[in-house]
Amino acid sequence: MASSAKNSAAKTAPKAAAAKTTSKAGSNGASNGKASANRNQSNPAVNIQPLLNQQQNAPAPTQRYGTVAQRLPIGLGESVRQESVDMLNQLLADTITLRDMYKKHHWQVVGPTFYQLHLLYDKHYEEQAVLVDAIAERIQILGGVAVAMAHDVAELSSIPRVPRDREEAPIQVSRLLDAHRILLENCHRFAEKADESGDDGTNDLIVSQLIRTNEMQVWFVAEHVVDSPLTQAE
Ligand SMILES: [Fe+2]
Repeated sequence: MASSAKNSAAKTAPKAAAAKTTSKAGSNGASNGKASANRNQSNPAVNIQPLLNQQQNAPAPTQRYGTVAQRLPIGLGESVRQESVDMLNQLLADTITLRDMYKKHHWQVVGPTFYQLHLLYDKHYEEQAVLVDAIAERIQILGGVAVAMAHDVAELSSIPRVPRDREEAPIQVSRLLDAHRILLENCHRFAEKADESGDDGTNDLIVSQLIRTNEMQVWFVAEHVVDSPLTQAE
């Protein structure tokens, strides 16, 4: 609806401009004819054509994936940065995967707990999206290149592939808890390594943001698969 309104506005605009030109021509036909001719020509000094398809003859990339640049003076040596970037790209791929699992399950959830899981999954999706951005930006600060695209994430992620099918809520929850466990095990291992190498910023990101957020989400999700009586105590 909005786009058709836009199209019709675009179609009527030249008509309005033409009407304006015609009314002017009545009073000053000769000079207006010249102005109209000028309007139809481009200024040759300004090339308004965008330079398209430059990727077809692209030079070498700005920076190759897997390399680390010592651009920013943040007081960390190259080997420390390289190790942290490799660890963070692993956590990034796992976090992007977990984030997308939450959205998948947000859409596909079914059953008596539909409403609360639908909302909870989306809340967790948003929180994981914040973590994704924090990890990726930490990688760039360290001089690395953050993994980004779905095909690269799929290759790198340590979380098992999730089927395309719609699954029952307890299966969704089990898959999510397993993904959180894998991610948290990586977090603990990498936080310790970052601590040992002196990369306090990476250690802090993993401990304060990743571990805390993921542990909280595990709690909220796991309580849904406790087989507790609904109406009468057993
Ligand atoms: Fe939604």
